[in-house]
Amino acid sequence: MKIGIVGGTGEIGEGMALRLSPKYDVIVGSREETKAIATCDACRASLEERDLACNLLGVTNQRAIDEADVVILAIPFRHVAPTLKTLTGFEDKIVISPVNPIERTTYFYYAPPPEGSAAMMIKGMLPESAIVCAAFNNVAANKWRALDEVLDYSVAVCCDDDGAKRTVMDLVNSVSSLRAYDAGPLHAASIVESLTPLLLNIARFNGMKDVGVRFV
Ligand SMILES: NC(=O)c1ccc[n+]([C@@H]2O[C@H](COP(=O)([O-])OP(=O)(O)OC[C@H]3O[C@@H](n4cnc5c(N)ncnc54)[C@H](OP(=O)(O)O)[C@@H]3O)[C@@H](O)[C@H]2O)c1
Repeated sequence: MKIGIVGGTGEIGEGMALRLSPKYDVIVGSREETKAIATCDACRASLEERDLACNLLGVTNQRAIDEADVVILAIPFRHVAPTLKTLTGFEDKIVISPVNPIERTTYFYYAPPPEGSAAMMIKGMLPESAIVCAAFNNVAANKWRALDEVLDYSVAVCCDDDGAKRTVMDLVNSVSSLRAYDAGPLHAASIVESLTPLLLNIARFNGMKDVGVRFV
């Protein structure tokens, strides 16, 4: 399976590239190809230090979409709509949204678009045949990047297509000790996205770092 990461040079994108590229073909996308290549070089060096082989390619965001079966949109919410307007080729692809629309004052709060969630907004912007899944919304980037730590978290997955949901849940379950849970249709993604400001507030007000969730 080829996984393209739009914004693969960022906090979570690079962490995902590190964790996924030993198992899958990972195509890191960026607005600037040279930045994507530099991210791939850094990931490859970290993995080689641990004797891990990997499959990484650094390209533009557009090429990452064109070459992938599954596309992860790893960009901040405020840039999602303008970025999607510049990109094409999502037809028949699975598109994973870890995107959380969050604002902050003295605390973090959920600030969804009129569509109800980032995931529903993204679905509305993509061709009908693209299948959007919300996943990975509640796993902190620092944990993805801490390669020597076990990623022991639950991951809620929302999607309207059973086959695509299974594919994404299998992908989740293949990463470290992450465990995927079916969290319902894409309409329910607002519930998953809105957990993240709670996690950030818990971390902030209790002197904790990178708080995550485990469903038991
Ligand atoms: N960070 C976390 O712990 C975490 C956890 C769960 C979910 N998420 C979600 O994951 C997504 C990415 O978060 P992040 O922290 O990884 O973001 P980030 O590091 O701030 O940015 C990710 C990438 O977005 C691209 N970008 C920046 N400005 C842009 C613009 N104006 N237009 C288009 N692309 C732009 C950049 O890539 P290029 O410059 O290479 O194009 C950047 O490397 C967010 O939606 C967030 O809610 C994050």
